[in-house]
Amino acid sequence: MPALRSLLFIPGNRPNMLEKGLSAKADVLVPDLEDSVPVDEKANARKVAAGFLPKLAQAGHTLIPRVNSLDTGWLEQDLAALVGRDIYGVSVGKIQGPEDIATISKILDNLEEKAGLKQGSVQLVPWIETARAIVTLYDICIASPRIIAVALGAEDLTTDMGIERREDDSEIEYASNVLCVTARAADVLALDTPYFQFRDAEGLRRDALKAKGCGFKGKFAIHPAQIDIINEVFSPSATEIEHARRVVTAFEEAERRGRGSTSLDGKVIDVPVVKRARALLELAAKAAP
Ligand code: COA
Ligand code: MG
Repeated sequence: MPALRSLLFIPGNRPNMLEKGLSAKADVLVPDLEDSVPVDEKANARKVAAGFLPKLAQAGHTLIPRVNSLDTGWLEQDLAALVGRDIYGVSVGKIQGPEDIATISKILDNLEEKAGLKQGSVQLVPWIETARAIVTLYDICIASPRIIAVALGAEDLTTDMGIERREDDSEIEYASNVLCVTARAADVLALDTPYFQFRDAEGLRRDALKAKGCGFKGKFAIHPAQIDIINEVFSPSATEIEHARRVVTAFEEAERRGRGSTSLDGKVIDVPVVKRARALLELAAKAAP
């Protein structure tokens, strides 16, 4: 699986922005047919975004376009326009429950067959942005092996709940925690909602660090200026890598002496600690440019 630290939304009806995506350093580009596109531009966006996919893929980008939700009636046309060799997966807005995943998976089965693709090769990233999706989340996550990650959509979730977005994000803390724990239980990644104040770099860094601390493994961006910070936050730092190496070395030495635990800098190093260190080194290897 490719790295999924940063995922840049690009409105599907904006050729100049799609062109800009060519040089973006995001792990994933997300040409969008959903909420960044006005209703009377939907058909145009479908055509423009689909037309850009080969160029973006040839430039080496991992593509996970976002399509409109099932209840809009546009989803089938969106998928028909996008499914092919150029995309890694699709991201679907406003998933309500596992039955939506079953329906979408069936549509993808058919499109894959038509395109001569292996069944199941298009990956899925459901947007979790309604109360119902939060309470059926585990069933959503295990509804199809296509699912590699779930994305938290804070704007739509608070709209569904009838509550205001707050500066401190306290209103989405429950949903964030549930989403990270459930995603982990189902062995898929948790991806964080975009940070809308795209000129506030320090605000973004704080927000991304908080998300990382909660268990998110990546974050959506709405502006190219957000990518470097997101990549940095969701990559292990040089200090973390160095510490993880020392942990692994100390543990391996202890093992050679027939011990299952040891200490480093006054802290216990045992199996879960060394597992975490090895996972961090694996992530660092994948995140390396
Ligand atoms: N992808 C690619 N290019 C982008 C971009 C994006 N998401 N956002 C901005 N750019 C480009 C602009 O077109 C501009 O290009 P130019 O220098 O060639 O003119 C450059 O980056 C600088 O943009 P800037 O002037 O700082 O911002 P803007 O006012 O043009 O755009 C937004 C601001 C918020 C309208 C724009 O970033 C956007 O539409 N983002 C996506 C929003 C979205 O996807 N929402 C749904 C997610 S929930
Ligand atoms: Mg949304």
